[in-house]
Amino acid sequence: RSSNPTALFKSLSSCLVASGVGNFSLAGSPSYASLLNFSVQNLRFTLPGVRKPAAVVLPASKRDLRRAVLCARGAATAIRVRSGGHSYEGQSYTASGAGAGSAPFVVIDLMNLNRVRVDAASATAWVESGATLGEVYHAVAAASSSSLAFTAGSCSTVGVGGHISGGGFGLLSRKFMLAADNVLDALLVDAEGRVLDRRDMGEDVFWAIRGGGGGSWGAVYAWKLRLVPVPNAVTVFTPKREGSVDDMAGLVHRWQFVGPALPDEFYLSVFLTIGSSSSRSQKDGNSSRRSEVSEMSWVESAAKFAGLSSVAELTSRVSKTKHYGKNKSDYVKGPIPPDALAAILRYLSSGPAPAGYVILDPYGGAMARAAATDTPFPHRAGNLYGMQYGVTWEAGEEGEPRMAWLRRLYAYMAPHVSRDPRAAYVNYIDLDLGTEAADAAAAVGRARETWGTAYFSAENFDRLVRAKTRIDPANVFNNAQSIPPL
Ligand code: FDA
Repeated sequence: RSSNPTALFKSLSSCLVASGVGNFSLAGSPSYASLLNFSVQNLRFTLPGVRKPAAVVLPASKRDLRRAVLCARGAATAIRVRSGGHSYEGQSYTASGAGAGSAPFVVIDLMNLNRVRVDAASATAWVESGATLGEVYHAVAAASSSSLAFTAGSCSTVGVGGHISGGGFGLLSRKFMLAADNVLDALLVDAEGRVLDRRDMGEDVFWAIRGGGGGSWGAVYAWKLRLVPVPNAVTVFTPKREGSVDDMAGLVHRWQFVGPALPDEFYLSVFLTIGSSSSRSQKDGNSSRRSEVSEMSWVESAAKFAGLSSVAELTSRVSKTKHYGKNKSDYVKGPIPPDALAAILRYLSSGPAPAGYVILDPYGGAMARAAATDTPFPHRAGNLYGMQYGVTWEAGEEGEPRMAWLRRLYAYMAPHVSRDPRAAYVNYIDLDLGTEAADAAAAVGRARETWGTAYFSAENFDRLVRAKTRIDPANVFNNAQSIPPL
């Protein structure tokens, strides 16, 4: 490995040029900062002190992607693959400085690999990993006269590469499960530059890439997705409710018995923030008209819940607002008592206005009918809902006190959420749960004891380690919480 940046740049750039990969930018060159920062969604990782890649490479084809992987390996750099850049901990474009994360690294950014090919007749689509959820939703609706959809998250600029790799939960999940549950095949570029489909990679690796977290296995070039049928109209409502702490705690307390128990066609989540609580909801089919309720096509509802003003905007990769932020997650297995809910609401009101929030995502329905080992994502039957805690801040505001505030809320919640393990959702990646060991020999044990079991369950984590050992024994694809090889 070269510790001399000039030699590294030379080796990398001459390999890329010789391989015909023309679109890349080395650290220090004029286009570097704008290419690197375009897909940085959490501004916390633009601050000084955050380790930056030696280069950003933008492949335009599967061939380019293979060659970019091989050139990075030839220059002995680690690889971070980036699709939408929405990792809450910046794992697609930063390095931690411990263990494998101390090596120089290259970002392979897939934003130009964003083609979506829909086959409406078979209700399937091949989607390049750099496509955003919005691009997929738009293409699927356009090719099927709005009769088909894909089940995945609500933010339109999230990339399918990272999203499907970690599960992918959204408004259709109570009916059709996760994005990862609807993957039929995939093309993975491994550390040797081979392109492997489901048969070539084998069932263990194919199982691992559908929920075992991004950044561990190779670069997923494309996914073959199962599309799902949707009616002409869905019914949506986003009622805002305000009231005393006790009234709101009572409302949320009742929601816990309703949201996760509704028929599969309903999705009713809760967003709690200072001064107000709102819920957003979607139901397949027609409804009786009420003032808060409206009907629209599924793709219009996807644009609405992404906060966009038109369906056309789904194809934009530009995030309208970017913040500094920190997120954490939990799973709730039994209803939280009203007094604890009231305490959360009071805590939110005492927090850094106006930027702390808690989201409750109802599970149940089809989510509870998959087995915990069907994919690496184990949070199935027995979970009432997932919780996401978040705090954001702006330039010039201090981040540390806000993150400390969020961590106190998380500590307070311990008696009310899942235990042994205290589970978490890998797509809401949280480095507070632990980071990679500096010593490779300790990596598997440390990961298993900390974040590995929390995200995946012990049984699934062990299978992930076996898959990693088979597909990437040299740990070329790594980050602070990637699956370590044996
Ligand atoms: P990014 O490019 O940062 O990648 C994330 C991880 O996956 C990194 O480790 C990266 O190396 C790896 N990776 C990316 N592309 C890869 C590829 N092609 N092959 C292999 N590895 C790859 N989640 C959810 O379930 N439901 C939701 O509704 C939302 N909503 C949401 C809104 C907002 C504003 C944010 C910031 C995040 C969410 N999420 C979410 C979480 C989201 O699913 C999670 O952050 C995804 O990992 C983001 O995927 P990206 O490709 O955008 O991220």
